[in-house]
Amino acid sequence: MSQLPIQIIPAAVLRKVAQPVAAVDKRIAAFMHDMAETMYKGNGIGLAANQVGSLDRVITVDVSDERDGKNVLLMANPEVVWHDPDETFTYNEGCLSIPGHYAKVTRPKRIRMTYLDAAGKKCELEAEDLLSQCIQHEIDHLNGVLFIDHLSKLKRDMILRKIDKEQRAEDGHVL
Ligand code: NI
Repeated sequence: MSQLPIQIIPAAVLRKVAQPVAAVDKRIAAFMHDMAETMYKGNGIGLAANQVGSLDRVITVDVSDERDGKNVLLMANPEVVWHDPDETFTYNEGCLSIPGHYAKVTRPKRIRMTYLDAAGKKCELEAEDLLSQCIQHEIDHLNGVLFIDHLSKLKRDMILRKIDKEQRAEDGHVL
């Protein structure tokens, strides 16, 4: 396994739509494990392929307290097939690609989804609360959508301006 470099906003790949994988072959299975390692090292509870510069529809998720790899979800072609139309859940979201910024995002509380696991087996999963929230955040990434897109324009612009300022400060050259 190896850790992959994380793409930070405004990297173009974060705005691209990832494509379904034809099958979970050896390359995709190895990629899933590299993504999981990258997620754990970054202290993230989820990661999407775009965030490591790939456009294969793959996400990894682990919302457990242990974070020891035993509860990791390695998912290719994840698809929400149903979401709760009535109840919502709100969570203070952050993102490894938007470091240091958090905002409350409201999403459907419960979802049902399908995906291919690391062995290529088609699986179904019902998720609620934080797990549901995290999966929806990661599937958004595969569609080029970031959590800041769920905020008001005012809040989004405020975060984008701060990021721009931080990045300029890092770049330096102000003489
Ligand atoms: Ni994210």
